[in-house]
Order: sequence, then C-alpha cells, then structure tokens
Amino acid sequence: MSLPARSLTPAPPDPILGLTEAFRADPRPARVNLAVGVYVDGSGVTPVIPSVLEAERRLLERAGSKGYLPIDGRPSYRTAVRDLVFDASHEIVASRRSVTAQTPGGTGALRVAADFLLQTGSRRTAWLSEPTWPNHPQLFSLAGFELRRYPYLDASGRRLDVDGMLGALRSASRGDVVVLQGSCHNPSGVDPDAATWQAVADVIVERDLLPIVDFAYQGFGHGLREDADWIEGLARPGLEFLVASSFSKNFALYNERVGALTLVAADEQRAATALGHLKIAIRANYSNPPSHGADIVDTILGDPGLRTQWEAELAGMRGRIRGNRAAFVDALASAGVPGDWEPLRHQRGMFALLGLTSGQVARLREEFAIYVVGRGRINVAGLTDASLPAVVSALGAVILD
Ligand code: LMR
Repeated sequence: MSLPARSLTPAPPDPILGLTEAFRADPRPARVNLAVGVYVDGSGVTPVIPSVLEAERRLLERAGSKGYLPIDGRPSYRTAVRDLVFDASHEIVASRRSVTAQTPGGTGALRVAADFLLQTGSRRTAWLSEPTWPNHPQLFSLAGFELRRYPYLDASGRRLDVDGMLGALRSASRGDVVVLQGSCHNPSGVDPDAATWQAVADVIVERDLLPIVDFAYQGFGHGLREDADWIEGLARPGLEFLVASSFSKNFALYNERVGALTLVAADEQRAATALGHLKIAIRANYSNPPSHGADIVDTILGDPGLRTQWEAELAGMRGRIRGNRAAFVDALASAGVPGDWEPLRHQRGMFALLGLTSGQVARLREEFAIYVVGRGRINVAGLTDASLPAVVSALGAVILD
C-alpha cells in the first residue's frame, strides 16, 4: 500500500508560520517580518525577559529530575494557572469547580479541548469568529467539528459588529461550541466592551451553548486581571466552559510551548469526573506535557518578588505595543496614506487588520520585502523606529496605486 494520493500533492504553506519560512529565505537585508505574532523590543530583538532568566537560573541550581510529569501536569503549576485566570478569591476557586491541565502551548490546550469534547459526545458544531486566527478552522475541523462562523467586524473592518455577532450566536443550536477570544482578538485587535461581553454571556446561557475561550494574550490588553474580568463574568451558576491559556506572549516563552486548559463545571464532582476524560485526550495526543517552560512559569508565579518583576515586564511590553500603535497611526496620517487608521490606536494586543487586498499584500512582500498576513494583518509589536518609515512608505505606495 502506498501513501494516500493527497499526501503526495503539495500542501499549502501555513498562512502565518509559512511566511516566516519565506522571510528567513529572503536575502534582502532590509526585509521586515510583521507576519508572525512575536514581540520585539526597540532594537528588533525578541528578548528572554529578565524574570524568565532568573527563574531558569534557579531551576538550574535546583537540578530536578527529568522523569515524566503527571498526565495533567505539575500540581503547583495547575493551581498557579487557575489563580491567574480566576482571581484566587473567586467563587470558582472556593467551590473547586474547575480543573486545570498543563498543555504544550495554547494550541495544545485547544486541541485537547476539541478532542475531549468530541470523545465525550459533544455536538459537532463549532462557531468561530469571522475573521479569526487561521489555525482555528484547521484545528477544529481536523479534530472533527463542522464549522460555522459568527460575524465579528462591521463593514469598516475596524469595529465590532455587535448585532451580527449576537444574532448569529442566537441562531446556534443547544450544545454548539462557541470559540471566543479572551482578549486582543487575533487578527483584528478589536475586543467587545464589558456590556457586549455580558450580552454574549446572556446569549450563551439562553441558547445553552458551550464556550471555549482562547486566552492567548492575557495581560496584553488592559492588564492581567482586567483582561480576565469578562471570563469571571461567564461564571454563572450552571454554565460550564473551557479556557485555553498560552504563555507564549505574556512570558515571551514562545519556543518553550507552555499553556494550560482550564475546565469549569457546574460543581466539583462534575469537574473531577471531566478531568479523567481530559487525561485520556492528553494521553492519546502527547502522553504528558513537557516540563521546562511550565516550571519557569510556576517559579515566577510562586515567588512574590519574581511575580512583581514579571508583571512590570509584561506592563512594559503592553506599553510598548500601545506606543507602537500611536506611532504607526501618526506616521500614516502625516504621510497622507488614505484610510481609516485612527481606530487602530485604541485597539488592543499585537495585531491590527489593515484590510489590504491580496494583491497589496503580495506587492508588500515582493516589491518591499515586508511580510504581512492575509488581509493585511500586521504584528504591531514587530514595528521598530528603524522599520516604521519603510513600512509606512510601502503602505502608501501599495494603497495609492
Ligand atoms: C500568530 O497569530 O501570529 C501567533 O499566534 C503565532 C502562531 O502560532 O500563529
């Protein structure tokens, strides 16, 4: 027997990571990568943040064992993550109606969530925002879900389509899975306000839907607790949901693949029983999680001094991204690049969706060596003083032509 025919026809490159491969192969010295969502500092470097370096130094001194972790990860890490998502004083913590499993990155958490739901008899329909992170449709459909879309942006592409979003969710069937992005929507940077999140939660309760919150950017929006406020607001009696955390961005631990899946059930007994099924999904995927990155997070969150230092470093990254947004909008305005740019200043997180055509995106790459994702998603965190003028002038050229 030979390989399936489709495995021998060329696969499309990944819409985000494939661009980084092309970028690396590009010999032009002035090339700029605004495709992948990775933070860079003012000098264009993705640093290991000092709190992480200090935690690694301590871990090295402790020289623990490389034996397997439990299937659901290290207990202290699981508790630390739960207390990051839900304040330690929250009812969910006191009632013990959540369980958290350590996973390889936020993507690992999403895949475990998808497998867990399907293996335990969930409805097979998952609702994703339109637009969304390009890996969402691939991940949920390969896991076995049929996909539906809820509109997310209005015609301007800069603001939330509140009525469209709520209307679509109202048409969902009981038990459908709804994927919501916790903060810093990828690719648009447009987040619902508190009142809209309340309305979304109302529809979820009314239609009896099952939310999965993709929480990859906690702390990159307004702050660690502020970004989690609306998720705490989901915690209504009886409402069960899952939260996929990632520590790629807020700890700058990209290549360590650190994340977690938190499941909130109606009561402690249901949560404990569901954990047994989560462990089956994990065992069948990667057996048990990798340790090093999670040990770093655990060390930082467990030490008051290191935690304070990390929160300041996180605030620094958040502040720099905000500054980049302002500088970008100002530069576009003073260069006279036509477009509705002002809303980008007030959006949150790493990304902005410029609303470019595929031809404009291709021209940016081919003529100007500037790499951006489809529809002109740019990583605002990737802009530097050195690259900003070239990016703005190239945008002017492709938009005005
Ligand atoms: C992105 O959207 O660029 C990041 O989340 C990185 C990734 O894995 O796609």
